[in-house]
Amino acid sequence: PMILREDYRPFGWLVPNVRLDFTLGLAETTVRADLQVARNPAADSTPVLRLNGDGLNPLEVLVDGAVMNSWVMEGPDLLVTLPDDAHTVTITTRIDPAANSQLMGLYASGGMLCTQCEAEGFRRITFFPDRPDVLSTYRVRMTGPRADFPVLLSNGDLVGSGDGADGTHWAEWHDPWPKPSYLFALVAGDLMVQRDSFTTMNGREVDLGIYVRAEDEGRTDHAMQSLKRSMKWDEEVFGREYDLGIFNIVAVSDFNMGAMENKGLNVFNTKYVLADPDTATDGDYDAVEGVIAHEYFHNWSGNRITCRDWFQLSLKEGFTVLRDQLFSQDMGSAPVKRIEDVRVLRSVQFPEDSGPLSHPIRPDSFREISNFYTATVYNKGAEVIRMMRTMAGPERFRAGCDLYFQRHDGEAATCEDFVRAMEDGAGLDLRQFRRWYSQAGTPQVRVAVASVEGGVELTLSQTTPATPGQEGKQAVPIPLKLALHDRATGTLGEETLLMLTGAEQRVTLPHDGDAPVLSVNRGFSAPVVIRRDLAPDDLVFLAARDDDPFARYEAMQDLVVGHLLSAVRGEAPEKWGAEGGRAAIRDVLATVLADDGIDDLMRGELLILPGETYLAEQLPVADPGRIHTAREALKGWLGQALEGEFLALHHRASRVGNGFDAEAKGARKVKTQALVFLAAGNPGLAAELATAQYDASCEPGGTMTDRQGGLLVLAGLDSPARTARLLDFYNRHQDNPLVIDKWFSLQAQSLHRNALAHVQALAQHPDFTLRNPNRARSLFMAFVGNANAFHAPGGEGYRMIADTVLALDPLNPQTAARFVPPLGRWRRIEPGRAALMREQLERIAAAPRLSRDTFEQVSRSLG
Ligand code: ARG
Ligand code: ZN
Repeated sequence: PMILREDYRPFGWLVPNVRLDFTLGLAETTVRADLQVARNPAADSTPVLRLNGDGLNPLEVLVDGAVMNSWVMEGPDLLVTLPDDAHTVTITTRIDPAANSQLMGLYASGGMLCTQCEAEGFRRITFFPDRPDVLSTYRVRMTGPRADFPVLLSNGDLVGSGDGADGTHWAEWHDPWPKPSYLFALVAGDLMVQRDSFTTMNGREVDLGIYVRAEDEGRTDHAMQSLKRSMKWDEEVFGREYDLGIFNIVAVSDFNMGAMENKGLNVFNTKYVLADPDTATDGDYDAVEGVIAHEYFHNWSGNRITCRDWFQLSLKEGFTVLRDQLFSQDMGSAPVKRIEDVRVLRSVQFPEDSGPLSHPIRPDSFREISNFYTATVYNKGAEVIRMMRTMAGPERFRAGCDLYFQRHDGEAATCEDFVRAMEDGAGLDLRQFRRWYSQAGTPQVRVAVASVEGGVELTLSQTTPATPGQEGKQAVPIPLKLALHDRATGTLGEETLLMLTGAEQRVTLPHDGDAPVLSVNRGFSAPVVIRRDLAPDDLVFLAARDDDPFARYEAMQDLVVGHLLSAVRGEAPEKWGAEGGRAAIRDVLATVLADDGIDDLMRGELLILPGETYLAEQLPVADPGRIHTAREALKGWLGQALEGEFLALHHRASRVGNGFDAEAKGARKVKTQALVFLAAGNPGLAAELATAQYDASCEPGGTMTDRQGGLLVLAGLDSPARTARLLDFYNRHQDNPLVIDKWFSLQAQSLHRNALAHVQALAQHPDFTLRNPNRARSLFMAFVGNANAFHAPGGEGYRMIADTVLALDPLNPQTAARFVPPLGRWRRIEPGRAALMREQLERIAAAPRLSRDTFEQVSRSLG
């Protein structure tokens, strides 16, 4: 059944207090739940209390302590009819955590027990109104064998613990903050803890703990430092203080997503907690910091103020992503972080928005909410709030946030509530801006510049392409930061903010001198596609000279995209100048390589060529094979044309130490990028350098960043060193699952012509399993990202992904459904491959007993 946003009704009953009593066992856990319920005066009155369940049977139901037998099941739900306005309903259920392969609800992972309840996992533990607008305080008692579960954790404060009979012990936790069921958490296991503490701005002491398995002890330092920095930053930048005496984090290896913001007890995928220089890359360090911050920030944007219903998911996720992005900007290089975030938006969210799964950041309908934890809800949601910040300026934005937190503290709110707080607190008029919440699709903005008397006239227009279920689109307000630069004199213009609100708009801007070069959507001030007809010389100028780092990156991308698209289309290259623009690209790259004005982290961004998915996205219908060939050809040509420069860069960067400062991180970034170009231009030389880089990284103090980078390049080449180093890497790290994930990934991502066959073989490797989501993704998501291999002309890649979906769906539907969208891109791929992609979607659709998750994604993809 389809669930509609407009069907929202408040729940008929309030559940102010919940007591849970767990008798824990890996294969059998008994749950006794006491729900204190009362009629909700704000809802339609009903004597029927509908409690959601998923795969549960009630062993016993009591009302006010007396057995009641008149309950009925309606599908998975339990219906209890209550005579009066207030009661205590007690329900006993029994579950088998070890058999829970979906990893939703209470499940076993490596001998420990843990929970994941967002969005609808709590109903797999006990019967409950499992919806985010029912807020309760929880008191949780758990008992279990001390030997198996020495650590017993839940939300809030520990209020008691002790020993029981037969080697059991117990603990009781109380969370004073009312919360929805999706924020409940319980962890029981044999875990080590790193402890620390944080003093809040009002002088309250908070005990911090990061719990991991014994073998991961010593890898939690970075997470702990990141947590303390997040707590401080949220006080300083958003005025948000932590509100309990304890904040715990637990790392779990079997986890569907990144992490979960359960009140006072965040549960994390190990991938976003554990880090040390020998096993984590610089990218992993940044991801740990970002996700720790994200989950911590949810304490206010998500927990203190939660969502009324799941259509409002972006209320907490979009806002929290923006908050973690701003945090990471402040912790490291702001321009580099901005470019990274835009790259993710364009390579993941833009394709989503232009395909069959396109939806507004606040969707209108869904079958399975797990399918809506998307780049649109998260990343475009963050961009929409970032635009409000750009329009208001940081101070007024902060005032809007303050008002939001103050007005809605303790409530289950809506996106509309947030927008209204921004209007009232930040003084913005957001009447038209609300369309960003309701309209799907990426706006396309055309910008033309013409010289007029005393200045220039800009003609701006916008259209948003139709998306499934939304034919006619309206204009949205688009904040565009822009500047006019003088190419002849090299004078850079002042930045101004221009609001494009209509379908078409003309603006005259003062400017002296020759026709200026337009630098537009600086800092990526709006999540739109800009169509600007800039001459290659102007792009060269911007790429080499613009004072906005993002605009420089953008010009570089546009220059390369322009060249590659003409190559793909087989167009005459004159427009792009000598050698179809290759010479211009070479010259800008040479400038970038020599530019002392930027650091290596930024230089690294300017060296990244647009990805194959992003290139495909620029064409109505793409031929992935031609795109790959054209991109590799350019890379190879540049690798040869700038061989000396790349060699020098690799040499210089190799002499920087193994530290974790910006200089060392930047050096590592450009070092591997130099290898990437050299591998395309001079494979023999690159193999030698990559091998040397790998070997040096195995010396004491060497880093995983260098080791993985060297091996990734080597894995794409035919070199005797290839097999030896792959084997060495495996042997070196076979006891560390997160590093073995990298080993699978880098082979699946490699440019080796046999990558597809390698992936087929790796799927049979004894260490491979679909039961662990990280491992499944390490092989098959990495493979999907390897456009050339995934789009093998015979369709073997598509078949392999469909096989994966079919094998995974019965075990873990949520993770299985995530492999469907890549096949859903078929309409945008050339007809031969499109037919093969469709064929695989149809094969999935025809399978018996498909989960709701996969069914929804496949049927939307087939259209
Ligand atoms: N709220 C979590 C986060 O973004 C994500 C949880 C998603 N879980 C799920 N089963 N879909 O931090
Ligand atoms: Zn989140």
